[in-house]
Amino acid sequence: MKQFKFNKYTTILEVQKEQLEELIRFSKNDPWKPIFHIHPECGLLNDPNGLSYFNKEYHVFYQWFPFGSIHGIKHWAHVKSKDLVHWERMPVAIIPTEEYEVHGAYSGSAIVKNDELLLFYTGNIKYSEETRTANQCLAIMNKKYKISKSLVNPVITGIPEGYTGHVRDPKVWEDSGKYYMMLGAQRKNLTGTLIIYESNNAIDWNFKGELKTSLVNFGYMWECPDFFKLQGKDILVFSPQGMEKNGHDYQNLDNVIYAVGTLDINELTFDIEYTSELDKGFDFYVPQTFQDALGRRIMFGWAGMPEIQYPSDINQWAHCLTVPRELILEDNVLKQKPVRELETLRNDHKNIQGMLDDNLVEMENDSNSYELDLEFTAIQSSEIQLTLFKSEGEAFIICFDLKKNVVSIDRQNFVNSVGKEYGYVRTGELKIGEKITARIFVDKSIVEIFLNNGDLVFTSRIFPKETITRIEISATGTLTYHVDKYNLTR
Ligand code: FRU
Repeated sequence: MKQFKFNKYTTILEVQKEQLEELIRFSKNDPWKPIFHIHPECGLLNDPNGLSYFNKEYHVFYQWFPFGSIHGIKHWAHVKSKDLVHWERMPVAIIPTEEYEVHGAYSGSAIVKNDELLLFYTGNIKYSEETRTANQCLAIMNKKYKISKSLVNPVITGIPEGYTGHVRDPKVWEDSGKYYMMLGAQRKNLTGTLIIYESNNAIDWNFKGELKTSLVNFGYMWECPDFFKLQGKDILVFSPQGMEKNGHDYQNLDNVIYAVGTLDINELTFDIEYTSELDKGFDFYVPQTFQDALGRRIMFGWAGMPEIQYPSDINQWAHCLTVPRELILEDNVLKQKPVRELETLRNDHKNIQGMLDDNLVEMENDSNSYELDLEFTAIQSSEIQLTLFKSEGEAFIICFDLKKNVVSIDRQNFVNSVGKEYGYVRTGELKIGEKITARIFVDKSIVEIFLNNGDLVFTSRIFPKETITRIEISATGTLTYHVDKYNLTR
């Protein structure tokens, strides 16, 4: 294997253009590179950042270390799109060159103000592996995509009293002429929380205090908070680290929670009516949302997990984002629906329908980038299995246990395995009844499963040895199936 050796604090300014091009060429032919998911040309992608609709275009930034699949010094990469499905790569947006961000331009969010896009991010400073501090910073993008760091940076220096160096990932929003910044934080007693700053101009910030919720002793750090309103309710999303597995909950190393309720910004309270996880798959973390011109609340997540090695690492790239998902609140449950623009990628429609009676049906397949829309009705079965990525010795098994109303996914059977030490099965509860609907997006090495209109979602990375794999459905008992399949191409 070819070895590329870069120091983990190398920025893109310190490397010859040819060296980067060589890395891009090296990663290019990796068969696991997705077609319609945002991913890096080379290097490691993690959190989605600065999601926005600005000047009639969608903008997605993401955490990026360009030189190999390690969590080296983070830059903000930038892609833009007119339709949420065709993305154009833009010059790197933020390169951590200044003292106040010397160990990385960490995650953050965007707001539009006076015809400019304000990008808030964390300047990370590490004194040693254990001790660090953080500054909150601002970069401004104009309508010609020119990005300049604010001359008053950092807009917030250091950490307020009572918290460790883990304070980061600003989520900024405006309400009634005031600006608020919410940050993920770790208290001195090593528990996770959120803190809030306030400003009249989005430049001068005052520390307001800690947000009080009923979630005490809830993990050791909360990363990447998001806050928005949907159908009259306030919604908080954040990613707690260090949660203990509990039945179907917190099955990953790091997890994502949403809470529906009411924020009182003066009292600094968030009254929770309902809380749940967003996604039950193996690889879903630190999502972020934004509102577009049509008023939709759209979310992208990072389809990856920190601290896990992935098979594409040897090809010098890692991770991708999820497809954009529209969020809809129904009876306090956040449902996720892939945005309708994805339908424009459909071609080669195939359809199968019929009845299963203790047997198996296979669907013809000639591409590993596709959408499957399934409907199972008249279900009189105890178990249904849908197998994707099936080839000699390999299988990704989605199992519907109709007795327990539990859906499980299993990625045990792969030569190129991922996250063995964290288990090969994930589960979620779903009221199944006599009908199941599923929309499934497969793109080379990622699968996103949306069950019963986005009630239960699983995002997972799979690294099959074959580039085209089979699709099978089997049932113990009887059911009627109706399946539409589309290849998705750009
Ligand atoms: C979450 C995270 C953020 C941080 C960023 C650094 O994955 O740890 O808290 O800003 O990644 O890349």
